[in-house]
Amino acid sequence: MSIIEKAANRLGQARPADAAAEATIPPAPAAAPVAEAAHAAPAAAAPAAAQAATPAAAAAPVMPTLATLQPHGDASRRTTHTVELDLMRMHESGLVTAAGGRTALVEDFRIIKRPLIKRAFAARKQGDNPGNLIMITSSLPGEGKTFCAINLAMSIAMELDHTVLLVDADVARPSVLRTLGLPAQRGLMDILLDDSVDMADVMLRTNVNTLSILPAGTSSPRATELLASHMMKNLVNEIANRYPDRIVIFDSPPLLLTSESHVLASNMGQIVMVVESERTTQHAVKESLRQLEGLSNVNLIYNKSREFPGTETYDYHYG
Ligand SMILES: Nc1ncnc2c1ncn2[C@@H]1O[C@H](COP(=O)(O)OP(=O)(O)OP(=O)(O)O)[C@@H](O)[C@H]1O
Ligand SMILES: [Mg+2]
Repeated sequence: MSIIEKAANRLGQARPADAAAEATIPPAPAAAPVAEAAHAAPAAAAPAAAQAATPAAAAAPVMPTLATLQPHGDASRRTTHTVELDLMRMHESGLVTAAGGRTALVEDFRIIKRPLIKRAFAARKQGDNPGNLIMITSSLPGEGKTFCAINLAMSIAMELDHTVLLVDADVARPSVLRTLGLPAQRGLMDILLDDSVDMADVMLRTNVNTLSILPAGTSSPRATELLASHMMKNLVNEIANRYPDRIVIFDSPPLLLTSESHVLASNMGQIVMVVESERTTQHAVKESLRQLEGLSNVNLIYNKSREFPGTETYDYHYG
């Protein structure tokens, strides 16, 4: 039985009909015992990921252009900030980068991203949310949402013909910049709290020129309320309209501890729910999927699986 089948079995009847894709990620190669699992996992995951892809054709790839990064409005008083990602440090801390070569983790995310990219630009029915808005969520804290959001963003950005915006929408406990080794900056909250702040004022370009970041921004006691607000819905729409050729990945709060995550999900075109191997209970998964009921394109990532011990170096092949 493949690891995916085992994962699906574990989730049991929790999986709704539209829980479209599943993929398995082993623990990343940060520490010595690491990327152990991966070996067989991607090959096992490949059919599931491929199967999950919507048959609709993906739109033609769009080359990243500087134009999409230009500030709107009064450009003369706006500067686009650039941050330097330390790719070697990211690689050493177990994240996907172009600097680390072809690791098991890179291969895992290559498989995970494929159906998501395909659906991001597929034709959609009237009333559907834009497929390029992808939210990463999970039932509880610590299951790997931020890890998966950053890795997915990096993996897609490495494709060159896709441009990615990574949004830290976990506004109460932001961790995207920290995980990337960067200091906190203005961001989402500042746009929501201050009408004069435009997205272009706070969006960060990076040295990976197909990747930009919208940080969570200044902390506010109203953070969770704002995330579920109509203003946030409008902002998400604005992002979708302004950057229709980008894949926008939202790192978000856990579904079971917050209600705003569920509201945010209703604005997304695709949801990726991270399930932590040997930790997330079936009950938690069922409850989370219940919260996502009615939303299309719900995908599962089975994270931190240790079922396939191996080494970090890894010969990848499609099964
Ligand atoms: N596949 C993996 N391999 C190794 N470490 C991982 C993996 N997935 C997550 N982690 C680690 O687990 C910890 C929790 O991950 P992360 O911060 O991404 O979780 P989270 O769901 O975003 O948590 P929170 O809800 O608190 O924001 C981090 O230290 C992260 O590096
Ligand atoms: Mg997180």
